Amino acid sequence: MVKGKVCVLGSFIVDLMMRAPRLPVPGETVKGTIFKIGPGGKGSNQGVAAHRAGADTTMITKIGNDEFAPIALNSFEGEGMITDYIFKDETADTGAALIMVDENTGQNKIIVTLGASDKLTQEEIDLASEQIINSDILLIQLETNFDALEYAVSIAYANEVPIILNPAPADMVSDEVLARIDYLTPNESEASVLCGFPVKTDEDLRKAGLYFLDKGVKNVIFTLGEKGAFLMNRTQQGMFPAFDVNIIDTTGAGDAFNGGLAVALAEKMPLDQAITFANAVGALNVTKIGTAPAMPFREEINLLIEEN
Ligand code: RIB
Repeated sequence: MVKGKVCVLGSFIVDLMMRAPRLPVPGETVKGTIFKIGPGGKGSNQGVAAHRAGADTTMITKIGNDEFAPIALNSFEGEGMITDYIFKDETADTGAALIMVDENTGQNKIIVTLGASDKLTQEEIDLASEQIINSDILLIQLETNFDALEYAVSIAYANEVPIILNPAPADMVSDEVLARIDYLTPNESEASVLCGFPVKTDEDLRKAGLYFLDKGVKNVIFTLGEKGAFLMNRTQQGMFPAFDVNIIDTTGAGDAFNGGLAVALAEKMPLDQAITFANAVGALNVTKIGTAPAMPFREEINLLIEEN
């Protein structure tokens, strides 16, 4: 198998995760059962997902000069990923997230501070530009500063490198950037923030899909959790049901899906197969605790697809 080349521009965040029998309401303290500190951040999670799923993956991110920074370097080195484009900010903190997981449902609540991930410079993107240009796909999210993202998008677009934008966490994206996106992967709430109307029903999904296509997005792939993924482009519309698995922790499932999608597209799989592959990566991720550490390897992904 020829490896695809995936370039991920995104955050590195240290995840401080606790599990509890239920999530607290405002003002309440709930006793937890597990506490873990580990590598996370949507960008980094997607990078690890792509690497484990079989792509030659370049990660572009930024960390601080603090006690959390070694967690990033140890994690990427432990995965066998190159760290040449992990930039360092001497004054900012490394990003951090407080994640609460309900151990009965696997659902979570997250607060994230982006820290150094929000401080990528144009010079740093220039240093990594050859990596973007030589990739089969550029994968981006919204946990980095928008000017850096916009600049990376312009490099990819000028060099005909297809772009996946996972618009998470939900935020506004300029029409100029949307017009250059080949694959947009929002969930319902992210879609709603981007298009400015509620996205809840099947009819809303189609309306939102048309909204994005009219903005110039080539393919919209809505991620719908346990329901699966819904694809819309100018010639196709279809639901790709999720794999039926035992849900332990949904944190990072969207990142797993996006990392998987990037690998499949970089390997030039047809889009329907690529979405099934992404669904499998997302499904396997929720069967384990954590974010980056819960990303599946290629053999597990292939097995799940073969068995279904
Ligand atoms: O998507 C999950 C990620 O969101 C976590 O790893 C956390 O760092 C937040 O960025």
